[in-house]
Amino acid sequence: MPENTTPASKVLDRVLVLEMVRVTEAAAIAASHLIGRGDEKAADHAAVEAMRKAFDELYMDGTVVIGEGERDEAPMLFIGEKVGGAQGKGPKIDIALDPLEGTTITAKAGPNSLAVLAAAEEGGLLNAPDVYMDKIAVGPGYPDGIIDLNKTPTENVNAVAAAKGVKPESIIVCVLDRPRHEALIAELRAIGCGVVLIGDGDVAGVIAVTDEDTTIDMYMGSGGAPEGVLAAAALRCVGGQFNGRLLFRNDDERARARKWGITDLDKVYKLEELAKGDCIFAATGVTSGSLLEGVKYRKNGTMTTESVVMRASSGTVRWIKGEHKIR
Ligand code: FBP
Repeated sequence: MPENTTPASKVLDRVLVLEMVRVTEAAAIAASHLIGRGDEKAADHAAVEAMRKAFDELYMDGTVVIGEGERDEAPMLFIGEKVGGAQGKGPKIDIALDPLEGTTITAKAGPNSLAVLAAAEEGGLLNAPDVYMDKIAVGPGYPDGIIDLNKTPTENVNAVAAAKGVKPESIIVCVLDRPRHEALIAELRAIGCGVVLIGDGDVAGVIAVTDEDTTIDMYMGSGGAPEGVLAAAALRCVGGQFNGRLLFRNDDERARARKWGITDLDKVYKLEELAKGDCIFAATGVTSGSLLEGVKYRKNGTMTTESVVMRASSGTVRWIKGEHKIR
């Protein structure tokens, strides 16, 4: 590999942006063999192994800041693990990853499972512990501060409806279909909103607010905090607003957060506090959904993939279709 003398910001831009797609493609293809096979663990394991291997091909000195868990919980892609083939030489990059976002979806062959990662210069991504996060998101084109996690769902819907110039009953909100969201769903339906319930996969759910074709105006509810950081990285690239607040179920989770340097446990994080500076978001579809087509096997001995890669500093979004020989 050539000696790299490019400043980190340029490396993030010119070399690594497209290379990141190879990494998510590898994970998606590996997981695709397990679509509909009812085995969540095997699908996740296949994606993790493939992603780990693909990282080694990249000229970077990467560190996993959001990964498969802590060192004692995950054999590979654990938090703090070094990835990339240029340790000590290449640009220092922080990586947030979810080799298979939607393990259950994949096992059941449902929509919207992804292989996904975000990359930023060192220190650019919130080291979010694996706890829940309360989330609210809206797409681009609204005044700054239009959504506020400290306000009620009704107040947030009313603000977005007023800015859009429509009645609150025209607003469509995406929510994870969970018993814990019963009150939220009831409140939204009481004011006449359309509620799109998704079974899993809130990275795609949040990103859906940025695409008018989905008809989804807002995302609300709690899901994984790591997924919150990944979705925030995507919104940094394509626009939109996001608030997230970590939710703790017990003292162990609070201790985990403190271990990662989080002192204000009630803080509402905005986009820039979750993913700051220049960052990259890359995803490849495992199963087809609102964001991407899934991996498809063709009669001619090839398989096709669809990926997206975006960069915050330029706002460039590249949609990449891949055709791969089945080996
Ligand atoms: P996994 O791929 O780890 O199964 O995550 C799927 C997911 O739906 C995420 O998108 C979401 O953030 C989280 O699970 C919600 O957690 P829970 O299923 O506990 O409500």
